[in-house]
Amino acid sequence: MGTSSNIRLRPWAVTDSARLFEIYRATPDLDRQLPPIATVEDASDCLERHLLPATGRSEWAIELDGAIAGCVSVAFMRDMDSVHYDRGWVSYWSSLTLRGQGVTRTAVRAVCDWVLGHGVPASVSLPGGRELDTGLLAAEASPGLRRLELGYRTNNPASGAIARYAGFSVEGVEREKFLIRGEAIDAVVAGRLATDSGLAQAGTQAAVHHLELWTADYSAAYPGWDWLLQEIGLRAGNRWEQGMSWVAQDGSYIVLEESPDTVGGLNRCNPGMNHLALNCSSFPALEKIRSLAGAHGWQELYAEKYPHAGGEGHTALYLVNQEGFEVELVVAKKL
Ligand SMILES: CC(C)(COP(=O)(O)OP(=O)(O)OC[C@H]1O[C@@H](n2cnc3c(N)ncnc32)[C@H](O)[C@@H]1OP(=O)(O)O)[C@@H](O)C(=O)NCCC(=O)NCCS
Repeated sequence: MGTSSNIRLRPWAVTDSARLFEIYRATPDLDRQLPPIATVEDASDCLERHLLPATGRSEWAIELDGAIAGCVSVAFMRDMDSVHYDRGWVSYWSSLTLRGQGVTRTAVRAVCDWVLGHGVPASVSLPGGRELDTGLLAAEASPGLRRLELGYRTNNPASGAIARYAGFSVEGVEREKFLIRGEAIDAVVAGRLATDSGLAQAGTQAAVHHLELWTADYSAAYPGWDWLLQEIGLRAGNRWEQGMSWVAQDGSYIVLEESPDTVGGLNRCNPGMNHLALNCSSFPALEKIRSLAGAHGWQELYAEKYPHAGGEGHTALYLVNQEGFEVELVVAKKL
């Protein structure tokens, strides 16, 4: 049995159509996860076709205080010549009220563990001392799949963070997979095998989750960073009033923010991080950045020793901006 927690995983029920309609209307980014829902009847139809218990899928609603607040889906797959499902495609979403609490990632992790045949306890700890009641999940027989797959857009770092938390390893990048409002967006594909340790596999997981840079003047610093980071292949992520993130293909990301808690100015020669070293894809790309950097507020350092200021076998460009941030762009292959 589960716990007395107010957050639980449970199968969807026919009576959930009104709540599904309500969440769909209140959550602007669910249109990529669910078919269009304009009426409660559409929601009933969606429940019937996609969410109610059925052969070939496993759908788990996340319930908060008695109302549905999210979903973890596994669509089963099999080879043409096989009668048994052995793979699954995983997707997930949460309502705005649930987001940012670590509940969705915990639910995704529990469902993935279960669907791959690993034991799941009747409840799992959540941040803040709360519990996710997984009693109903633990009581069901696991489909015992061999492999799980999922995909997320590189401008959706929260989805990537959940995939990593749920033990998925990045297996590749589908370049410019989606054209959304005229912007080409890469998609990351990730997988988890039943035989994996459950931690993202070494060698395919980005070493860095994210780096957070604080600036004393966001509006002055933003244009130069935006140009440089997009020039080396990072994509625009989230924006807020005094900050922005840029996401790399491996899901790691860089944040630039003007925080009200900032104290003093930057001096990269103080103890702490001295400079940021980022990969640049090729020498021609490095040359292009070098020729345009001045127009975007970056000054070159050690120009007399370019491109080997860092040593004979090391090809790099060193830049500094008006605030004193130093960036080293490295072409990993020798010239
Ligand atoms: C993606 C989505 C499911 C996240 O749900 P959530 O309830 O906020 O998830 P959680 O709170 O459990 O975890 C979010 C994780 O993303 C991270 N995150 C959240 N916002 C982020 C941001 N703007 N940049 C980077 N990471 C972010 C959180 O830190 C957390 O990671 P951590 O465990 O490493 O700390 C939700 O935003 C959503 O439903 N989006 C629309 C549908 C969608 O994109 N689904 C995924 C595609 S399958």
